[in-house]
Amino acid sequence: MADRPPPFSVQDWRRAAEAALSPDVLAYFEDVAEDGVTALRERNVWSSVPLRPRVLVDTSEAETTTEILGHSLGTPLLPAPVALQGLVHPEGELATVRGATAAGSLAIVSSASSMSMDEIGRLGCPWWLQLYPLADRSLTAEVIGRARAAGASALVLTVDVPVLGRRAAGLVSSPQAVPALLREMIQPGETLADVYVRTGGRPVTWSELEWFQSRAELPILLKGVLDPTDARDAAAAGVAGLVVSTHGGRQLDGCPSALEALPPVVDAVAGRCAVLADGGVRRGSHALRLLARGAAGVLVGRPVIWGLAADGEAGVRSVIDILTAELRTAMALCGQTRISDLDRSVEWRPNEPAS
Ligand SMILES: Cc1cc2nc3c(=O)[nH]c(=O)nc-3n(C[C@H](O)[C@H](O)[C@H](O)COP(=O)(O)O)c2cc1C
Repeated sequence: MADRPPPFSVQDWRRAAEAALSPDVLAYFEDVAEDGVTALRERNVWSSVPLRPRVLVDTSEAETTTEILGHSLGTPLLPAPVALQGLVHPEGELATVRGATAAGSLAIVSSASSMSMDEIGRLGCPWWLQLYPLADRSLTAEVIGRARAAGASALVLTVDVPVLGRRAAGLVSSPQAVPALLREMIQPGETLADVYVRTGGRPVTWSELEWFQSRAELPILLKGVLDPTDARDAAAAGVAGLVVSTHGGRQLDGCPSALEALPPVVDAVAGRCAVLADGGVRRGSHALRLLARGAAGVLVGRPVIWGLAADGEAGVRSVIDILTAELRTAMALCGQTRISDLDRSVEWRPNEPAS
């Protein structure tokens, strides 16, 4: 970064990451499902919801502090679980967790992380573990126990990958492209391919959720819910939270963006659990729109990877700091000073009479 001006937007971090990464690694992180219809929708949806500027309000004290599932945070912007961060930086998820903490945030670590849960736990920072269930429940139980021991304070079950979306770029072929969890599970005489087959995936169903709830001893969030009926049933089942997400446009191509899906989901859960959201957030004002529609927190995927790739922990911190500063500015320009006060009154409605 030495010969460049300091990044002013996350797009500056993107350009720095492009310069730092090989084309195949970049392609893996940028990849989307099929024709990228949902990914494009997520990029463009923000302009379909214009914001409503309000004036003559003292917003000098506008602040972004918030509380999410018992964590007091300086920002509602959280690094999303993104697999294999060791591909872009030698410290991988360790740098992401530290950078998030420095920015007043909390990182969600992928179960396909490059770094082991024990290493992450030793940082002493707050973090949540994202999980895909393994074929064998006793192995999953062991992973959950280790996550608890390493200080994970919530489990995020990703439910939108019953099958992998069809993506062109595929995986990177590199020794770095193996999650720590799999490396740790290799038994004597086994190859990596054997471990993949033995541990495999297990469909997340409603009965599987019950099993998780009976074993986890941690709050459980479901990530990848877009449908209000699923959201209502999940809230009724007692989950702590939902993440409204299209998996960064990498799963069902053609589904709506999180911003569009949020209002009926928020109505359906009716305050029974926290609702978070992600997808295509590249500006603080994008996060503002999600928060205004009822999201308690906003996850950020690829921009965090760009910061990590270009400058490790400092890059991650900068990405969250930039988005948070933009959020504070957008709040102030909409006459808002508190995250907890945000609602859809920040959306511009054409021809709305004075109230
Ligand atoms: C390369 C890549 C890997 C990902 N890995 C995971 C994962 O392991 N688990 C998961 O729940 N979501 C995963 N996601 C989805 C993110 O958590 C998040 O939903 C998405 O990236 C948000 O969109 P954004 O990148 O536009 O911010 C991944 C996304 C990308 C781009």
